[in-house]
Amino acid sequence: MSAAAIPLPSDSRLRLLSAASATAADFSRDVRAGLTSKPKSLPPRWFYDELGSALFDAICFLPEYYVMRAEAEVLAANVGDIAGAFGDVSRLIELGSGTARKTRILLDALTTAAPSLEYVPVDVDEAMLARSGRELLAEYDALRVTAIAADFERPSGALAQLPPPRGRTVVLFLGSTIGNLDPDAAIAMLRDLRSALVPHDALLLGVDLRKPRAVLEAAYDDALGVTAAFNRNLLARINRELGADFDLASFGHRALYEETHGRIEMHLVSTRAQRVRLAGLEIDFDEGETIHTENSYKHDAATLAALARESGFAIYRTWTDAQKRFADVFLVAE
Ligand code: SAH
Ligand code: TRP
Repeated sequence: MSAAAIPLPSDSRLRLLSAASATAADFSRDVRAGLTSKPKSLPPRWFYDELGSALFDAICFLPEYYVMRAEAEVLAANVGDIAGAFGDVSRLIELGSGTARKTRILLDALTTAAPSLEYVPVDVDEAMLARSGRELLAEYDALRVTAIAADFERPSGALAQLPPPRGRTVVLFLGSTIGNLDPDAAIAMLRDLRSALVPHDALLLGVDLRKPRAVLEAAYDDALGVTAAFNRNLLARINRELGADFDLASFGHRALYEETHGRIEMHLVSTRAQRVRLAGLEIDFDEGETIHTENSYKHDAATLAALARESGFAIYRTWTDAQKRFADVFLVAE
């Protein structure tokens, strides 16, 4: 993997690196593979183009989508304990950082003790990285930001871009983003992360907890239809970037809780029999056939213990919100 600097207005506190960033060819390959397999599926990382990231940000304001607020409550109510657990952190890495809105709760506390902390956001959305990096520099006088455009499923690739750390590395993986990986992929990802850390480095992992079906399904199928738009934008992006002719109006949004796996499944449902053209390929849909676009796994103490055990981390502490909807788990590399 080669490091390529993305040109930016110069600020010595901000660097933008790219570790194998996603290309149009990767997008085309994933879309072709997913739409020609049975059942049809699409990988969720392609949700986050400029419009997709804006729609996700809007989801965070929806009354039904409790995830963002529950985690913000956990972080705000326990920020002293969390900063204490982080100890003498010198490098704070965040996987899937997005707007880094909740991260500020932690940065407020951490930069009081260590003003020139190094913050390393890692995300697929390069435009978002540049924007949030600049905003953070304006808000934190001495913070240093090294943003890396990379796939968080293999975090060691992103971490290999960095010089050796001078002290403890702490990794944030918030927002239940780990829940969007299937259990095997989540373990593979955490193991890969562990391989790039040393004992005593740590991970703060945000996970959504199991709860009644009605609460979960409403969170992923809101009354305003913003989550439906977020899901359908994947088809709009395929039309825009790959020249397909999806008729967006004939695909519906479906979110259902699959209790045996403890996961929300998101699908796009073809409301009629139809044929879609994608650069020489013809893809047929039956009425009611779906494209599986994402899972969001929900955890409990047993699934969390298994995740830690199989990836080389020890659970040190768990904080939850008052209603026990969401947990932030502090894991230490063994
Ligand atoms: N951490 C934020 C954002 C969560 S949304 C929060 O808690 O609110 C998920 C974020 O992960 C988005 O910013 C998206 O661009 C990024 N992302 C999704 N798949 C990715 C992948 N495979 N590699 C790197 N970033 C990814
Ligand atoms: N990882 C979060 C979750 O599963 C955020 C998220 C990813 C999301 N994709 C989404 C939220 C689609 C709503 C819809 O909750």
